[in-house]
Amino acid sequence: MTGDLFATADPPASGSEALGPGAFLLHGFAAGDAPALWAALQPLLAQAPLRHMITPSGHRMSVAMTNCGALGWISDRAGYRYEPGDPQNGRPWPPMPALFRRLAQAAAARAGFPDFQPDACLINRYAPEARLSLHQDRDERDLSAPIVSVSLGLPVIFLWGGLKRQEPRQRIRLEHGDVVVWGGPDRLRYHGVLPLQAGHHALLGEQRLNLTFRQAR
Ligand code: SIN
Ligand code: FE2
Repeated sequence: MTGDLFATADPPASGSEALGPGAFLLHGFAAGDAPALWAALQPLLAQAPLRHMITPSGHRMSVAMTNCGALGWISDRAGYRYEPGDPQNGRPWPPMPALFRRLAQAAAARAGFPDFQPDACLINRYAPEARLSLHQDRDERDLSAPIVSVSLGLPVIFLWGGLKRQEPRQRIRLEHGDVVVWGGPDRLRYHGVLPLQAGHHALLGEQRLNLTFRQAR
């Protein structure tokens, strides 16, 4: 797929790849905005520090997480849920910068979801060896809204599975600036991230950051 979708849009830096009827990898879609995203992340991360959350079963996640936006996703002994702030320090999440919101909406629109209104942005930080096991994003109230996922920094292998956990998974390399959007019939696809391989990225250094935009309520 490409032609019609891009006919009236700005010429994309690169193409898009269908990962399903409602899922698209937009190669390099965020590459131009990446320096501004990275700059905007500095005060955000100072205000809402990344931390390793605990799963309901008591495991410490290898990915460090924080959020911006009206709501943020958290995990602790009580479960997975959205909260207006970090229960660990009692502070509200920092507001979602306008640039983040615009980028997420533009990517969603490009993938066929013109009405996306993100109110939550989960910020994941992968250091070498950090990984995310196979899961579905299903804590959002309205599953008709897509997930928009922005990759920054070191490349990683994204696991893209089916609607059932045991279905085969594709291995997809995500590079700096890539955006994946999944919604509609692909909204509950299982996905995960293989352990990050060490390396150096010109802008972000020894890490990968992933921003996932969600319409949580
Ligand atoms: C996620 O599933 O929340 C993050 C996916 C990624 O890091 O690419
Ligand atoms: Fe996810």
